Amino acid sequence: MNKQTQTACIFGGTGFLGRYIVQKLAREGVRIKIATRTPQSAYFLRPYGDVGQIVPVMCDYSQASIENMIEGCDMVVNCVGILYEKGKNSFKKIHTDLPSTIAKACRKHNVARFTHISALGVNSAGSKYAKSKLKGEEKVLSHFEKATILRPSVVFGAEDEFFNRFAAMMRFLPFLPLIGGDKPVMQPVYVNDVAQAVHNVVFGDEVHQGRVYSLAGPEKMGFARIYGIIFEATNRWRPLVRLPFWLAKIQAFFLQLLPGAPLLTVDQVRSLQTPNILQEGQLSLTDLGITPTGHALIVPQYLKIFAKGQRGIDSAHSANA
Ligand SMILES: NC(=O)c1ccc[n+]([C@@H]2O[C@H](COP(=O)([O-])OP(=O)(O)OC[C@H]3O[C@@H](n4cnc5c(N)ncnc54)[C@H](OP(=O)(O)O)[C@@H]3O)[C@@H](O)[C@H]2O)c1
Repeated sequence: MNKQTQTACIFGGTGFLGRYIVQKLAREGVRIKIATRTPQSAYFLRPYGDVGQIVPVMCDYSQASIENMIEGCDMVVNCVGILYEKGKNSFKKIHTDLPSTIAKACRKHNVARFTHISALGVNSAGSKYAKSKLKGEEKVLSHFEKATILRPSVVFGAEDEFFNRFAAMMRFLPFLPLIGGDKPVMQPVYVNDVAQAVHNVVFGDEVHQGRVYSLAGPEKMGFARIYGIIFEATNRWRPLVRLPFWLAKIQAFFLQLLPGAPLLTVDQVRSLQTPNILQEGQLSLTDLGITPTGHALIVPQYLKIFAKGQRGIDSAHSANA
């Protein structure tokens, strides 16, 4: 089928992962609808395609609005997700009910391919986040059995909220917390690899449909290793202080009461108690024809803005001192 006549709808296309997915799919020439709560926040995506190829469309996430997005689309990708609950945005609403409604609409409107982004470890972690994601997967597959579920580990890339966040924290903290000592372990995966996985599911063989893929990078690492990578990239150093899970939960309890995005929540500490790594027998990036990219050539590129002596960071910091 001619790709130029096909339409993809991407929920959450303005997000960190979403923008890379938009870029990958746009290169194939398909028309792309970006379902967003604020269309003006999606204008930056338009240069990824030809004139008129990428269209931000207002979605208020009511059933009618979701159906309106999906009607006439050949493929749908859902990458809406939250890291913490706030106000009306509960994990149940965003990770369970919303994917369920999208999946039902995909079935009703005969969408050919539906890709849903979940998260690695949801089948074993005890956090509310993981449980809501797992329930969401079950709902998706019950309404649209050909859906493909992708479960990334922590995602890294220029706009990530992971390496960037720790590097930013280093500027004002005298030490860095080793939450749970050396117990938490994860396998950070490169954002471009996750987007390529979506691309390969959307345009690749039918065999990927109805399957669950666990997307992980080439290296398993704990916090000490993660901080080491940041120290090397920024030429800065901070002592590491072990923080048992119970103490981290107490701190998180108070941090999550502060206004704005919480630095840490009790539920996130709970997530860290289960390994976030690829398990034996799970389908992975290599089953999608992708060799996982390591952090070595990527992370130092975008962390250099935090390096010692960088203008803008140190000067702003010292101006506030
Ligand atoms: N980043 C990671 O390390 C990571 C790891 C594992 C799994 N994941 C999963 O991958 C998916 C994409 O993650 P991401 O990091 O790209 O997320 P993100 O940057 O926060 O983007 C999520 C997008 O969802 C949309 N959205 C719709 N309703 C929302 C609501 N009520 N609250 C917040 N956002 C809402 C937003 O788009 P509009 O504002 O335009 O509506 C937003 O751009 C999520 O399902 C996430 O759970 C991410």
